Amino acid sequence: MEGHVSLPLTLLLLLLCSLPGVCGFPFGPVLDLDVTPRTTIFSQGLLGCQRFSSRSQNYSILLLEEDNGVLYVGARGALYALDTANVSKPGNPKIDWEASAEQKKQCLNKGKNNQTECYNHIRLLQRYNETHLYVCGTHAFRPLCAYIDVEHFNFSSGFEEGRDRCPYDPAKGYAGLIVDGEMFSASQYEFRSSPDIRRNFPFPTLRTEEAPTRWLLEADFVGSALLKESTNSSVGDDDKIYFFFTERSQEQMAYPSQTRVARVARVCKGDWGGQRTLQRKWTSFLKARLVCSVPDYELQLNVLRSVFVLQGPDVHNSVFYGVFGLEWKNIKASAVCQYSFADMQRAFEGPYMEVHDSKWREYTGKVPEPRPGSCITDVHRSKGINSSRDLPDNVLTFARRHPLMSTQVHPVGGRPLLFKRSVNYVKMAVHRVEALDGLVYTVLFLGTDEGWLHRAVEVRGQMHIIEELQLFERPQPVDSMVISQRQRSLFVGSSSAVLRVPLSSCRRYTSCFDCVLSRDPFCGWDGALCVDISSLTNRSSLIQDVQRGNRGCSNSLGAVAERRRSVMSGDDVLLQCELRSNLAVPRWTLDGRELQGYGLDSGHRVGTDGLLLIGARPEQSGEYRCYAAEKDVWALVRTYSVRVQPDPPLSVVPTSPTDTPSATSTTATLSVSTGGPTERPLPSPPAPLPPGPEFRTYRRMEAMYISLVAVLSGLCLVLTVVLLYVSFCTRGAYQRRKYSQQGQAEPGAGRLELKTISSHCNGRQDSRRGARRSLSASNMDQLGDSFLQIVPGGGSPGKSPPPPAPPLPPPLPCSEYASSEYTNGMSATLPSVLRKMNGNSYVLLRQQADPEGSTSALYHSFTEELNRILEKRKHIQLDPQPPDESSV
Ligand SMILES: *[C@@H]1O[C@H](CO)[C@@H](O)[C@H](O)[C@H]1NC(C)=O
Ligand SMILES: *[C@@H]1O[C@H](CO)[C@@H](O)[C@H](O)[C@H]1NC(C)=O
Ligand SMILES: *[C@@H]1O[C@H](CO)[C@@H](O)[C@H](O)[C@H]1NC(C)=O
Ligand SMILES: *[C@@H]1O[C@H](CO)[C@@H](O)[C@H](O)[C@H]1NC(C)=O
Ligand SMILES: *[C@@H]1O[C@H](CO)[C@@H](O)[C@H](O)[C@H]1NC(C)=O
Ligand SMILES: *[C@@H]1O[C@H](CO)[C@@H](O)[C@H](O)[C@H]1NC(C)=O
Ligand SMILES: *[C@@H]1O[C@H](CO)[C@@H](O)[C@H](O)[C@H]1NC(C)=O
Ligand SMILES: *[C@@H]1O[C@H](CO)[C@@H](O)[C@H](O)[C@H]1NC(C)=O
Repeated sequence: MEGHVSLPLTLLLLLLCSLPGVCGFPFGPVLDLDVTPRTTIFSQGLLGCQRFSSRSQNYSILLLEEDNGVLYVGARGALYALDTANVSKPGNPKIDWEASAEQKKQCLNKGKNNQTECYNHIRLLQRYNETHLYVCGTHAFRPLCAYIDVEHFNFSSGFEEGRDRCPYDPAKGYAGLIVDGEMFSASQYEFRSSPDIRRNFPFPTLRTEEAPTRWLLEADFVGSALLKESTNSSVGDDDKIYFFFTERSQEQMAYPSQTRVARVARVCKGDWGGQRTLQRKWTSFLKARLVCSVPDYELQLNVLRSVFVLQGPDVHNSVFYGVFGLEWKNIKASAVCQYSFADMQRAFEGPYMEVHDSKWREYTGKVPEPRPGSCITDVHRSKGINSSRDLPDNVLTFARRHPLMSTQVHPVGGRPLLFKRSVNYVKMAVHRVEALDGLVYTVLFLGTDEGWLHRAVEVRGQMHIIEELQLFERPQPVDSMVISQRQRSLFVGSSSAVLRVPLSSCRRYTSCFDCVLSRDPFCGWDGALCVDISSLTNRSSLIQDVQRGNRGCSNSLGAVAERRRSVMSGDDVLLQCELRSNLAVPRWTLDGRELQGYGLDSGHRVGTDGLLLIGARPEQSGEYRCYAAEKDVWALVRTYSVRVQPDPPLSVVPTSPTDTPSATSTTATLSVSTGGPTERPLPSPPAPLPPGPEFRTYRRMEAMYISLVAVLSGLCLVLTVVLLYVSFCTRGAYQRRKYSQQGQAEPGAGRLELKTISSHCNGRQDSRRGARRSLSASNMDQLGDSFLQIVPGGGSPGKSPPPPAPPLPPPLPCSEYASSEYTNGMSATLPSVLRKMNGNSYVLLRQQADPEGSTSALYHSFTEELNRILEKRKHIQLDPQPPDESSV
């Protein structure tokens, strides 16, 4: 019964939340797999990066040759050979290869976009032999290929027809591979043709079958890999080529709106096709489903976006990683699943699927010998079958009708390594590094569709995101990533540039705790600095703790300069304390006692940016200390000595003769003042504006703006809160689920942590300042001694005219300020921790302990919810925009 009441409400809430800007993600507390990056670094704060860009765009193809120290780059209309040691060094060898004007015109006539598509986009760039590379480009919808003489870096001969090797469309999924002078490729090449996996050369060329059974259905390819399974094979096996893609599903799906599945297909390198049956078609084509789902939530991520193959010491110990997304493009979410090749091989050796009454089900009948779809091995040879052409017809006929395996490939551990809401990972690279504890850690480099990089380390099956880095100021997808072991760098290609990013930037961590809490396996504390452990040969004195991330540092809390504040009784005062770590929780003490209580009557409020004293009273004077509490470590961040002056003088200091009392009488005025005596000279603040009429008009407008925004956001909020409250109430407390951020068990569950500055406008300014603050230590000082004061009505007594707010940094790309601006005390049914960060919005919801430990009915079937929402959306066209691309 309750379910009947709450479901429509919940859906309404979800719909409301999916409106642009209301919530970061349409679902509240979803998965405890969701991981928050520990630190957020904006592009201005990147360390040790090199950038390459020229007049070209779309640096999408990277080919790294470590031994030669060259990074070959395929861009739009050009190819470059960059020095891996310094990609920004000028004078790199370059080949211009643009489509002719005539060709572009034809492309335009085909109805293609002459701003983006009618160019020569490089799609394939690989080593062909010792002296030559092989390159293919879309060439304004008429693909061409060519050989490049590496020594002179020019084309060695004329162009070859690329129609059957390279897609026409620059955005079409494509996987190409050149192995021992043979080319394999997979794509939907032409607009109308069906997708195909091909051996392009040498002769005979091979393709996939289309009738009576289509082997590929609208396949979108993301990658390919060669595994040399012939090496040391006890059965005389062949090398195999694997292709990774998403296609339309043939088998029954759990939900009707799910239509796509992720797959891996494989072919044998030595396949020659059949003699009569499967002539010039693969005899060894098999495919299996890749599953990446979150079991507790019935959440299936069916769209494969990127793969990375990590070759082990031998083939059977190789693993690969896949980045998956949801089928619905306007909902951002990503999961990373890890698979073992051994599991995949088991699937290819298992039972087949078969069509029966137009439904796919497992084939249980007799399988002909030798096993259809297998490579030629010693077993075949012992029977006189020396190549695929000698295979009997019944085997080939079976293979032709049974391309799909019944066994699905499940991820290692049965669930994703990482699940991330509100973020679309699009590319990935993986690196293994030995840490000081002697263990080898896997570090994932995940590139997003907005130009961010997440660095994550796997510790006992759990991912810890060490940091998120904004690589490109203008949001743009990461197109390609390669790791250079030798340069200890990651090369990233995007539409505007190629970037060389160090694998880690240890010197960003300035204290022992910061270094250790980062859990960065590349970094260790040497007593004075956080250093790259590989740069030292004697590592015995370094401190590092990847496993737990809190051991090794001595417990001295460090010295922090004290700031003084002198305020009037009744004022609201913000003591700023921005924590660098997104995982840290602020803890405040007053004269050594921890501040408790967060109700309105306590007179203060702790937010993620500082402590707000509401209507300061003289007894609130004393020494305030702000600590960043993370993993049971309390690190001192700020110390304030606050003196609250009793009885403020009633006289209002006149600011100007034309000052009218009505201007700001009821609305709160935001004023920023550089307060108190400072320990360091402040960088010269911007000159204060004269308090002329324009200024006041500006002030008045600002006030109006603030109140307008406040009213609007208040309305929004009230609606959300009402819905939240109603839905929570109707479902009852027992349905709540416990979420805890890894390792951060909170004794004070049920309290609400909030941003102390409440209105949107302020929040925004403040967030930006926070962003600026995280850039460098010197910037921190610039703002460290200013504080925000909310003055109720009138001018601020006894204060000089406030200087204007410090100039803001240029607008940041991802502005999610819309959610979670809770301004007042909330009931305990609300999420207990709300956190907002710049660049990406994270709303960490940590709810109260669930007495029964039962899974919430609401979140039980995430996929079901999504389906319903999407059904609804179809009808009412509620949300034409993706919810995450909105700003306030
Ligand atoms: C790379 O080359 C640029 C341009 O010549 C130079 O300014 C920069 O210092 C070089 N960087 C390194 C690390 O050598
Ligand atoms: C694209 O085509 C339009 C005409 O359809 C033309 O005006 C415009 O200049 C072309 N742009 C480029 C970059 O060629
Ligand atoms: C590499 O391939 C190119 C193009 O086919 C050919 O001209 C060249 O001779 C080959 N080089 C070697 C060393 O085989
Ligand atoms: C490539 O460059 C070399 C050296 O400049 C030159 O000798 C050769 O003719 C060029 N090849 C072509 C095909 O232009
Ligand atoms: C193959 O076997 C030889 C001899 O046992 C060994 O030295 C070599 O490392 C093996 N190669 C691979 C790739 O396992
Ligand atoms: C396969 O190769 C063996 C040895 O090379 C040869 O004796 C046999 O006739 C071949 N079989 C076929 C069917 O070609
Ligand atoms: C090329 O770059 C432009 C932006 O510079 C982008 O709009 C376009 O989608 C890119 N094309 C491809 C194929 O990546
Ligand atoms: C390494 O450093 C430690 C302490 O700094 C020192 O005691 C030890 O002798 C050094 N070991 C070597 C091999 O240099």
